[in-house]
Amino acid sequence: MNVLHVSAECYPIAKVGGLADVVGALPKYQNKLGITSKVIMPFYNNTFIKKHHFKSVYTSTISLGKVEFNVKILTLEASELGFELFLVDIPTLLFKDYVYSSSDTERFLAFQIVVLDWLLQEQQKPNILHCHDHHTGLIPFMMLQSVKYKSLRKIPTVTTIHNAQYQGWFPHEKVYLIPEFDLTKVGLLDWSNSINPLAAAIKCAWKVTTVSPSYMEELKNNANGLESLLSHESAKCSGILNGIDTHVWNPETDPFIIKNYSIKRIPSGRKANKEFLCKEFNLDVKKPLFAFIGRLVGEKGADLFPEIFNTALQNNKISILLLGSGEKEVEKKLEILKKTHKGNYNAFIGYDEKLSHIIYAGADFLLMPSRVEPCGLNQMYALRYGTIPVVSYVGGLKDTVIDIEENGFGFVHQKVTIKEVVKAINRATVFYKNQVKFKKIRTQIMQIDHSWNTSAKAYINLYNSLNKQL
Ligand code: ADP
Ligand code: GLC
Repeated sequence: MNVLHVSAECYPIAKVGGLADVVGALPKYQNKLGITSKVIMPFYNNTFIKKHHFKSVYTSTISLGKVEFNVKILTLEASELGFELFLVDIPTLLFKDYVYSSSDTERFLAFQIVVLDWLLQEQQKPNILHCHDHHTGLIPFMMLQSVKYKSLRKIPTVTTIHNAQYQGWFPHEKVYLIPEFDLTKVGLLDWSNSINPLAAAIKCAWKVTTVSPSYMEELKNNANGLESLLSHESAKCSGILNGIDTHVWNPETDPFIIKNYSIKRIPSGRKANKEFLCKEFNLDVKKPLFAFIGRLVGEKGADLFPEIFNTALQNNKISILLLGSGEKEVEKKLEILKKTHKGNYNAFIGYDEKLSHIIYAGADFLLMPSRVEPCGLNQMYALRYGTIPVVSYVGGLKDTVIDIEENGFGFVHQKVTIKEVVKAINRATVFYKNQVKFKKIRTQIMQIDHSWNTSAKAYINLYNSLNKQL
């Protein structure tokens, strides 16, 4: 079987969040399981691209309305990544030093058109097209409805929703950008009087998955307007829990961290990483260190952080370290807090892959007070590195973290309020005092297997079910 993943992000080529981690790992695991899984994504202007040599495999032009663009597809052999990679190069649209911007309609529509144009003339077509998020949401529609892609109609499509908050809406006036189709079918593109690529994918993809079973359930009641659509299409929808790439995320070999450690050497390895963080960020190494890594947005509960941290730090018993960027107002407040809680709190506002690994290896607890968390990879990385998660009871966090009181290994709070989060932090602080129990749990969580093996198989079973339908 031959599968082509279509995505805006893929680690290590271009990463904004967890989507990249998934698309950089799942195909690798699928290849190991005996199918051929490849990735196609945009060619951006970034460090990875500058450091590698690519071979051109396709040259053409596309029209977006009346504008013509020269396009190319470049490739990188499978050796380094564990899967064959294709990059769509549209210099004036995609080749930017960012992945997302406020004018993404044309960028990602052009990307999707190039992918399908290329497939039209490929001898060996994929058996499955696996599309990720709204940036690739028009592919299932175009394959079914656009006149020029008629010959691709029989290739099954799977759309994975990583986050239904973002849907890629654009006004109907831009419908002319989509390759010609029977206009009586425009309803398939529409949701609430806009063209909605994610809604179109839910309607047209052969199967729809979310990145955890609980998120699938939650979307029926809270999907940023798509609730009734998801309920209506529920027969073809399912939740498959994300995994993690245990080769990239391995404390024994991780080249980013200060000292590597195996299960047998947890205390000394973790101590070196914690000491580094505390020195770097002027924190007290004797206190339990709570950390947050991620996007500073409402879904992650970020607007509450200044107040949560301020309250939790009052008793002078803990340290907090934050790595993240996002809403400017929140960033500003988190910067100001540094002065109030000098020596107990610090933050790096920005994106730093290396630092994130050191934090997973050195913090005692990882905070994730998310209001919405389709899956969440951070808590699984934390477990793998022996950092105890303190999380809200939502989405993928529900499916991966069990509270210590229920024979589990983390601290779970039901609601995302300042009071509840601080209560969970306080429970963790008390737990930290019993170092025997604390170390036992640390050893236990490092052995939980969240590798992609199981879920990569689940996707293959889903693909097989579709190929059988043909
Ligand atoms: P989301 O995709 O919603 O942002 P996930 O938990 O699925 O959340 O994945 C986030 C990924 O991005 C993880 O690999 C995390 O370590 C990484 N990450 C997020 N913010 C930063 C940051 N500021 N610096 C480094 N890595 C980050
Ligand atoms: C999204 C979600 C996150 C998930 C990631 C990878 O960005 O917000 O919860 O882990 O995609 O699927």
